[in-house]
Amino acid sequence: MERTLVLIKPDGVRRNIVGEVISRIERKGLKLVAMELRTLDAETARTHYEEHAERPFFGSLVEFITGGPLVAMVVEGERAVEAFRALAGATDPVTATPGTIRGDFALEVQQNIVHGSDSTYSAEREIKLFFPDL
Ligand code: PPS
Repeated sequence: MERTLVLIKPDGVRRNIVGEVISRIERKGLKLVAMELRTLDAETARTHYEEHAERPFFGSLVEFITGGPLVAMVVEGERAVEAFRALAGATDPVTATPGTIRGDFALEVQQNIVHGSDSTYSAEREIKLFFPDL
């Protein structure tokens, strides 16, 4: 079984669609194995997004992700990394297919509701960062 880290970002929490996102994950057949509502500190956010440190939007991404509570989850299942990214849709919500989470609920590339690890390698790193005891 594969595991992935899913975040319902502060915009998703603010818009009260946590239940909607979790429901889609569960309906797909993926299992929640850990979940926490928390507000990230800047250091954790910078570590989480370290691969984007040189990109022009890095500062604003860190500010956004630390700007309110988010829901962090570990999700498990067959090819969970790819399965969740398919549920989430494209990073840019304008081009994300309707029926996906971003395609249905977002318009902006920063406020795109959810994050999912982009590989099993990233998943392992991100799960350790958010749930060190797992
Ligand atoms: S991906 O899926 O990793 O290939 O997407 P990528 O385009 O590399 O984006 C990585 C994360 O950065 C966010 N992002 C942005 N934020 C603000 N402004 C701009 N222009 C921008 N472009 C990308 C995007 O929401 C991705 O966040 P996560 O949490 O990884 O989905």
